[in-house]
Amino acid sequence: MNLVFLGPPGAGKGTIASEAKNHFDIPHISTGDLFRSHIKGGTELGKQVQAILASGDLVPDSVTIAMVEDRFKQDDAKKGFILDGFPRTIAQADALSKMKNLDFVVNFVLNRDQIVARLSGRRMCKSTGRTYHILYNPPKVEGLDDETGEPLIQRDDDKPEAILNRLAVYEAQTAPLIEYYRERKLLLDIDAAPSPLEVLATLIEALKK
Ligand code: AP5
Ligand code: ZN
Repeated sequence: MNLVFLGPPGAGKGTIASEAKNHFDIPHISTGDLFRSHIKGGTELGKQVQAILASGDLVPDSVTIAMVEDRFKQDDAKKGFILDGFPRTIAQADALSKMKNLDFVVNFVLNRDQIVARLSGRRMCKSTGRTYHILYNPPKVEGLDDETGEPLIQRDDDKPEAILNRLAVYEAQTAPLIEYYRERKLLLDIDAAPSPLEVLATLIEALKK
């Protein structure tokens, strides 16, 4: 199954994808995670994009498209995929349509207050990338990763100014993809407000139809 997860920052795309990938046995390809691992590894690409991610702006299309094209060359992507955070512009969507056919584009719907609450309370483990929320999904021991015991950090782009910028960037550049995919009869709207387990169950049910 070839899926795209679309939706505003903080809607839960990564949280649901990390469960859905096991259910469907397909890789979870998150462009945000790929960029963060380049930053962590200190690669040329990482150096090029670090400040862009921290501000909440988008990485240029050419760079992002090339990275996704490269990821698709890995064997695991041949059986299907969940693309999380790509495409994010019309140019990226046009490029993707030349690379792969899609089964569904899942549009996670969440209101602005909930988006801000989810982003500002998110914490993550730098080495595993595992994501928590200080209220909705707290670690067993406050401030520490359940598995590694390492201190949890806040993403640079979850600081208040960056959150506002990301929301503006989403509205201007990514929200138009909702109509783009609706016109192509690929869009599946999912209410992202319930708990992760409920959202996952709704998604699995909807994909059966
Ligand atoms: P990216 O990492 O993709 O960030 P994003 O799209 O802003 O999405 P988030 O990861 O913030 O949100 P999410 O929907 O995954 O939510 P999560 O599951 O974590 O991209 C980062 C940056 O990389 C971009 O800003 C850009 O610079 C660059 N980039 C990436 N892709 C690009 C592209 N295609 N083109 C150009 N640049 C690109 O959940 C959020 C919080 O809520 C967590 O704390 C979680 O525990 C909690 N939560 C989740 N679900 C629930 C629930 N159901 N109930 C209660 N709490 C929940
Ligand atoms: Zn994410």
